[in-house]
Amino acid sequence: MNTKGFIFDLDGVIVDTAKYHFLAWKKLANSIDVDFTETQNEQLKGVSRVKSLEKILSWGNKTISEDEFMALMAKKNDDYLSYIDKMGESEILPDVPKILNHLNENNQGVALGSASKNARKILQKVNLISNFQAIVDGNDVSKAKPDPEVFLIGAKALNQKPENCIVFEDSVAGVQAANNADMISIGIGDKTVLSEADYVFKDFTEISIEFIEELIKK
Ligand code: BG6
Ligand code: MG
Repeated sequence: MNTKGFIFDLDGVIVDTAKYHFLAWKKLANSIDVDFTETQNEQLKGVSRVKSLEKILSWGNKTISEDEFMALMAKKNDDYLSYIDKMGESEILPDVPKILNHLNENNQGVALGSASKNARKILQKVNLISNFQAIVDGNDVSKAKPDPEVFLIGAKALNQKPENCIVFEDSVAGVQAANNADMISIGIGDKTVLSEADYVFKDFTEISIEFIEELIKK
């Protein structure tokens, strides 16, 4: 059987942590008198912690010192982690385990490719960490999505050529990163938002084992 590399984004693909990022960023933004909406939150999907804070400050026309910047980043993460600490297996998005199990049972390469520095902690919380042969997260990369770095490191860790890799992503930047890496991009979410992806599904309940088998044979 062919072996391919399947690389999963974390936030919004495996677990719905976007809601916790939203709550933590909103609290932080409001604490410095900056408005923060769900629409703005959309624009932070796939974006690193540093870049997210930079965007929020620019939306609020705020300039702050480097020390204040670091303090706000730490504050946001502490707040975010208070939600993560309460997470469990019930927060895994529907049918994600089904697909992960199928890939692992069929000896496919499975890696994580996430911008989050909290990725390992979250995978442990939801008890999925043993499903991944390689984990590439925000601690391993120097260039943010849409740069392909995170996925290229993932492919290397799986011993796969980029063209033999398939990426699952919920963010525009992530889909672009997969495309820039010359990988097959599968968008998880809204077709109109993720129009640059090779395929788009609302969620994993729409992805059949037959479709996965087709990807493996390609
Ligand atoms: C991405 C999320 O996966 O990780 C972003 O989509 C988040 O919203 C980024 O900002 C960094 O995450 P963390 O956990 O390192 O703050
Ligand atoms: Mg994501």
